[in-house]
Amino acid sequence: MLKGRHLIDPMDFTLEELDEIFELAGDIIDHPVKYSDSMKGKLLATLFYEPSTRTRFSFEAAMLRLGGQVIGFSEPGSSSVSKGESVADTIKTVGCYADIAVMRHPKEGAPKVASMYSEIPVINAGDGGHQHPTQTLTDLLTIKTEKGRLSDLTIGFCGDLKFGRTVHSLIKALSRYQGIKIVLISPEELMIPDYIRNEILINNNIEFKEAERIEDEIGSLDILYMTRVQKERFFNEDDYIRLKDRFILDKEKMELAHADMMVLHPLPRVNEIDYEIDEDPRAMYFKQAKYGMYARMALMLKLLGVK
Ligand code: CP
Repeated sequence: MLKGRHLIDPMDFTLEELDEIFELAGDIIDHPVKYSDSMKGKLLATLFYEPSTRTRFSFEAAMLRLGGQVIGFSEPGSSSVSKGESVADTIKTVGCYADIAVMRHPKEGAPKVASMYSEIPVINAGDGGHQHPTQTLTDLLTIKTEKGRLSDLTIGFCGDLKFGRTVHSLIKALSRYQGIKIVLISPEELMIPDYIRNEILINNNIEFKEAERIEDEIGSLDILYMTRVQKERFFNEDDYIRLKDRFILDKEKMELAHADMMVLHPLPRVNEIDYEIDEDPRAMYFKQAKYGMYARMALMLKLLGVK
């Protein structure tokens, strides 16, 4: 039963609960009109303490397309956060007005704290370099719909694996499916955190390898998940400049990939995928962004127990 629950970590839901969400998302994709009034009278609060395009807009579009309404801020300086109000007091107040809340915050764990004080479901829309569970729902829905399965896949993650919260969340989620192999492609400075390597990959006996060049690995992949180097998480700008263009996916590298390899990217893109790849039918990242809206529609319907 998902009604009344929070989504803070990608492991908060069982595989069966995830399947329920994917099934509902598929039905919304096939029959959007059927759902156009289903959230009538419901209010979503979007609390974004960090910038966002896809996550905030897709949540807002999701609620509006379901017939509900939206309040919130995209700039915490415009709210009483600027006067020093805590996350706990903010969510208690928002719960007086809205039915469900989605929060992005630069501090790891802030949405978890909010959920502990909240009377309404809280959804983590990304907390620092930690987790991004609704991006994971988006990624899983994209893979399941486009590949037809979530098991027996070789997935390469490339770029900033240290700070990339979408990578951390997706690896956690994938660790529960059978036959998953993972290839981690990053510079040494941006390697996957030890807690993901030890607690998720090693503890769950997931087959994985670490590599430094896309062209050495791309031919073995079913999915290549590209990420940008996360400028906002660096303490030293020189390090960012040195690392930011280390991996660029271009036509030459795509020629080494299988005809049905899928390129995913949570976006925003900076330089890591050449614009000419957008025309390649294997480039799935904008379709992925659209799946994000359907995944979030299904998620909110489930958390609010709307039939
Ligand atoms: N993928 C993602 O989280 O994008 P935004 O930062 O634009 O929300």
